[in-house]
Order: sequence, then structure tokens, then C-alpha cells
Amino acid sequence: MINILKDMEVFAKERKIPIALPDTRDFLKNLCKEKKPKTILEVGTAIGYSASNMLLSCDAVITCCEASKPNIVIAKQNFEKLGLTQRVKIVEGDCLKTLPTLLGQKFDLIFLDGPKGLYPQILPLLLPLLGENGTLVSDNIGFRGMVSKGSEITENRFVKTVHELQTFINDLQNNKNLNTEIHFEIGDGISVSTWRKK
Ligand SMILES: C[S@@+](CC[C@H](N)C(=O)[O-])C[C@H]1O[C@@H](n2cnc3c(N)ncnc32)[C@H](O)[C@@H]1O
Repeated sequence: MINILKDMEVFAKERKIPIALPDTRDFLKNLCKEKKPKTILEVGTAIGYSASNMLLSCDAVITCCEASKPNIVIAKQNFEKLGLTQRVKIVEGDCLKTLPTLLGQKFDLIFLDGPKGLYPQILPLLLPLLGENGTLVSDNIGFRGMVSKGSEITENRFVKTVHELQTFINDLQNNKNLNTEIHFEIGDGISVSTWRKK
């Protein structure tokens, strides 16, 4: 198992495919061990690295939303190698189109790791899918240190994404139904949201 996960890390690095940083991966693994989700939704699966790590840490089944066909091919091979295929459902296509098709389902854990510039548009599609005791973890909200207050945006091409991520964080924090913790210190920054108890 460990070798297969290591091979995935090497493959991702060689092909410059972004995958969860070690802190973020370990946070997800610990969350899965602690909360024991039965159903997980992942937006942005790439080659299946974070999904595999989560599945190997609990008994859940996972629904993976991924737009890239080449990534899906590799992810399927990796799930097969790890004996996880039976626990994975892959939903192929742009998550803005595919997430509404999941309406009616509820997930115990949602990991948002798709297109960073679309997080504010994705959030309203995810919240109806988050179970009563569910947890929403969103990755890269620090965006290489550019999102936290007072940080400089190092390149013009990142301006829009950084603003969208700031909007996303505001949307989470201003949502009176959610409790949200922001952890800029974990990986590339993660947020962790749960429903506020009434
Ligand atoms: C950061 S990678 C995911 C990494 C993965 N979660 C991991 O840690 O192993 C982001 C993925 O989101 C996918 N993606 C980008 N835009 C998307 C969209 N609109 N709908 C679905 N997936 C998308 C990309 O193809 C890419 O594979």
C-alpha cells in the first residue's frame, strides 16, 4: 500500500500534477480515523491520491468529481492497484454541472480541492450535499501565502484566484449556519466547516 502511495507521489511530482501536501493529507487521514465517515465527496480527484488516503483511513465509499479524462484514467488504475475500486464512484465532468446531479445525497465528509477560482460558485452547490453532522474541508485557501491578510500577490495571473478565495473565506465565515475554522498553517491552507448546532 505504502509503495503504491509513494509511486503516486513520484508520478504527480514528475507530471506536475498538484496533490495534497503532507500536512493536509495527514489532517484528512486523522479526520477519517476520528469521525469515521461512511460517505465522502471529493471535488477534484486528480490521480486519486487524497481519495486513496482517505479511503485507507476509514470504511467510507467516495464519490469523486473530476473533469480531466487523463487524470481519471490514472486515478482508476491507482484505485484498482489499492483494491479500492468497489468503494469509488467517479463522476466525470465540470463540477459546476455534475454537483447538481448529486442533489438528494448527503455526505459525511466533503473535500473541496477543485478549481480554486470557482470555490465561491461551488460552495452553494456543496452545502445541500453536506450531511447534518458532516464536515467540509476546503484546500488551498491560503494559496501560497497570498490570501492571508497583508500578504502580497506575487504574480498578476493569481490576482483573480486570490480574490475568489478571499470571497470564499468570507462566504464561509458569514454563513450563520456554519462554524468554520481557518488553518493557514496546514499545507497550503485549509478551512474546516461544520453545521452550527441549533
Ligand atoms: C489539486 S488537484 C486535486 C488533487 C487531489 N485532491 C489530491 O490531493 O490527490 C485539482 C483537480 O481538480 C480538477 N478540476 C479542475 N477544474 C475542475 C472542474 N471544473 N470540475 C471538476 N474537476 C476539476 C483538475 O483536473 C485536478 O485534477
